[in-house]
Amino acid sequence: MGTTFHLVRGGLDDLPFIMATERLEGYDRLVGRWDEQRHRDAFVDGSHAYFIGYDGPAPVGFAMLRFWNAVERTTLVRRVAVVSPGQGQGRRLLAAVVAHAFRETDVHRLVIGLFPDNLRARRMYEAIGFKAEGISRGSAYFGGEYRDELAMSLLRPEWEAANA
Ligand SMILES: CC(C)(COP(=O)(O)OP(=O)(O)OC[C@H]1O[C@@H](n2cnc3c(N)ncnc32)[C@H](O)[C@@H]1OP(=O)(O)O)[C@@H](O)C(=O)NCCC(=O)NCCS
Repeated sequence: MGTTFHLVRGGLDDLPFIMATERLEGYDRLVGRWDEQRHRDAFVDGSHAYFIGYDGPAPVGFAMLRFWNAVERTTLVRRVAVVSPGQGQGRRLLAAVVAHAFRETDVHRLVIGLFPDNLRARRMYEAIGFKAEGISRGSAYFGGEYRDELAMSLLRPEWEAANA
């Protein structure tokens, strides 16, 4: 299964897959979902980058990053979702995205904000090397309310040491 995994930079053609995946049942309380225009704006704003993970010919999930290749050298992993959770696909997808970011850009710090009760996501990020930093109070305006997020980050030296 894992041997055929590969990562592709997402484009407008991937929008139906991206929008269907972020709308999967049960994901509404875990991850944001945008309408088509917001995604289209993000595709051309010069700051967002989308990646699609494939296991063989089938897309298995996507990741959306913000401040991609930014001069500040901090990139935000803004959204990650897979079609079939709990099978290691998220870990493969994000590990590939992280490797791509450190190899292809000068980024020093990758950061993610997740809801603190999303233990499945936290476990995946920790497996890739992200470390919990603390709670960002009220940092996500989500479903009409401000929710706390757990900030997790991965720094280039840590990643390079683990992937030498
Ligand atoms: C978060 C997400 C991308 C992770 O991808 P995934 O393919 O499910 O993750 P993996 O299977 O690679 O790893 C999940 C890990 O969490 C563990 N896990 C699963 N459910 C869990 C739970 N309820 N509590 C704690 N750990 C859990 C699994 O055992 C696995 O750890 P292990 O490999 O050490 O056994 C995926 O679950 C998803 O799309 N979720 C919905 C959207 C979402 O939450 N996105 C993240 C927003 S920040």
